[in-house]
Amino acid sequence: MSTLSKVSERRLVVPTLATETGKINPRLQEVLDEADRVILYEGTAASRVSYKGEMHVGVDLGTAYTVLVVLDESMTPIAGAYQFAQVVREGVVFDYIGAISIVKKLKMQVEERLGRKIESAATAYPPGVPLAEVRATGNVLRGAGIECSRLIDEATAASTVLQIDSGVVVDVGGGTTKLAVIEDGKVVYTADEPTGGTHFTLVVAGAMHIPFMDAEALKTNAAEQARLFPAVKAVMEKVATIVARHVTSYGPKRIYLCGGSARFPGMAQVIEDVTGIETVIPGEPLFVTPIGIAMNNVAGEMAPLR
Ligand SMILES: Nc1ncnc2c1ncn2[C@@H]1O[C@H](COP(=O)(O)OP(=O)(O)OP(=O)(O)O)[C@@H](O)[C@H]1O
Ligand SMILES: [Mg+2]
Repeated sequence: MSTLSKVSERRLVVPTLATETGKINPRLQEVLDEADRVILYEGTAASRVSYKGEMHVGVDLGTAYTVLVVLDESMTPIAGAYQFAQVVREGVVFDYIGAISIVKKLKMQVEERLGRKIESAATAYPPGVPLAEVRATGNVLRGAGIECSRLIDEATAASTVLQIDSGVVVDVGGGTTKLAVIEDGKVVYTADEPTGGTHFTLVVAGAMHIPFMDAEALKTNAAEQARLFPAVKAVMEKVATIVARHVTSYGPKRIYLCGGSARFPGMAQVIEDVTGIETVIPGEPLFVTPIGIAMNNVAGEMAPLR
């Protein structure tokens, strides 16, 4: 079981992103900090959140972490929960029953904290997966007793949070790298490729001759990361090559990195060196996509299955 530590002490934040490359959500920092606080919550179940207004709920079925997050009507995170689980492989649900039971558990935990029921949520799939897989993702929610209000691709979800008007949003998750190219505030291209944090962990396991889960713990330990950097750099370069191949023809001015794998120090610099495009991590990257999914759980919108 891999538990996430708060990273606020060693913030990845770029405090003021220059405006010449376009606008960005002015509340981004606040929203990401709140997500960090409420999802990595370690209080007792008795510490209730008292909120009676409209809720926006997102469920992110990730390769490494399944996350449920609730936003209030101002799109600020108020509660959430996560679990490390291997029920999704490269973005596709392969342990359907396991996925349902995790979502049920997270739903119960968050309902306990909110003192009210979660009725509906949005969820997401990697760009480009077949329609049957998209439907399966929605069915996990239904199996857990949540109406699936909206299905959205993960890269577009991440871009909903950043609200940039141009650039590339890259989500380097556990299993895959997802990206969305934004022009004039609109997503004009999305892609997904199977390289992510799992590959970093496999490289660490190989280099250190240790089992996968030990390598995962070592890789996410801040005190070990400088020593491991030379081993994982090749995987970072592979991610960068993937990004360059998909986005160079759009001539973007900036890459915005998110996803848990962006927490490995040095990642942004490697992506920038290989692509030649300025690369930033605009705040704690882990929960950008789950928040974006929740932001797309908006009343009155029904699931467009593309
Ligand atoms: N502090 C850290 N340093 C390095 N890597 C980290 C850190 N924290 C988490 N990770 C890695 O981030 C990955 C999980 O990120 P994330 O939650 O974005 O992926 P996911 O959504 O589960 O996967 P995917 O989107 O590919 O389906 C894991 O590989 C994990 O090891
Ligand atoms: Mg993800």
